[in-house]
Amino acid sequence: MATETLSPKKVNWFVAMMSSSLGRKLIMALTGLFLILFLVVHLIGNLQLLKGDNGEAFNKYAEFMGHNPLIQTISIGNFFFIFLHIVYALVLTLQNTKARPQAYAYSRPEKSSAWSSRNMGILGTIILIFLVVHLQNFWFQAKFGFTPEATYGTQKVKDLYQITATAFSQLWLVVLYLIAMIGLAFHLSHGFQSAFQTLGLNHIKYNGLIKTIGLLFSILVPAAYAAIPLLMYLKSLN
Ligand code: HEM
Repeated sequence: MATETLSPKKVNWFVAMMSSSLGRKLIMALTGLFLILFLVVHLIGNLQLLKGDNGEAFNKYAEFMGHNPLIQTISIGNFFFIFLHIVYALVLTLQNTKARPQAYAYSRPEKSSAWSSRNMGILGTIILIFLVVHLQNFWFQAKFGFTPEATYGTQKVKDLYQITATAFSQLWLVVLYLIAMIGLAFHLSHGFQSAFQTLGLNHIKYNGLIKTIGLLFSILVPAAYAAIPLLMYLKSLN
């Protein structure tokens, strides 16, 4: 029955579950996997910047994404998931610090866990700083700033390619992107595997494969992202 589905007992169970340590980890894993998916789609779109067509394909793609109601709805979800991922990361970090206020005298964390897994907070903060600069440069500019227009036949669109090319002609910004993509690579290298483990999607038979796919993903995706500002900067020198 519908009333049965929303009984206070079940709501309480859900709230208790989501406030538990396992619930928090579950939210980190699910939001993380969604953000990984976003990274792939965003990368495919952005690689069109390198097509050498003066931005025509990229501008048309950005116009479609900016006006499609389904994409706009997913975009709201995306911002919500980024927010949840950050808030729960802070809660988990505080919880872990509280649980172990003093480091074990004889612990050698470097022996028992990877560097990235012990520094997810620092790596996440680098990505957050990058994201604030990134959204201000591109998203805010596209939505609320002045953007020049490009005309393709009868279609008039925002010339986001021009905005991107101007941004990536600045060396400091390109360096920031490169540092952030190194941070993203380490963050993903732990996050990918950790998400699978939390969701119970690991199996002794497939753990090696998941590890390899995770590692390849963590290197290739940030490397492809880093190539965009780097190549556009080199192009701007000509
Ligand atoms: C280095 C290459 C990248 C380029 C050229 C690029 C370009 C852009 C552009 C042009 C927009 C605005 C699109 C619009 O609103 O019409 C945008 C939005 C966005 N970018 Fe990037 N981006 C890059 C990397 C990244 C990375 C690595 C992340 C995440 C770690 C990221 C996260 C976002 C987010 C969250 C938005 C807002 C998306 C939305 O409206 O839902 N971007 N990007």
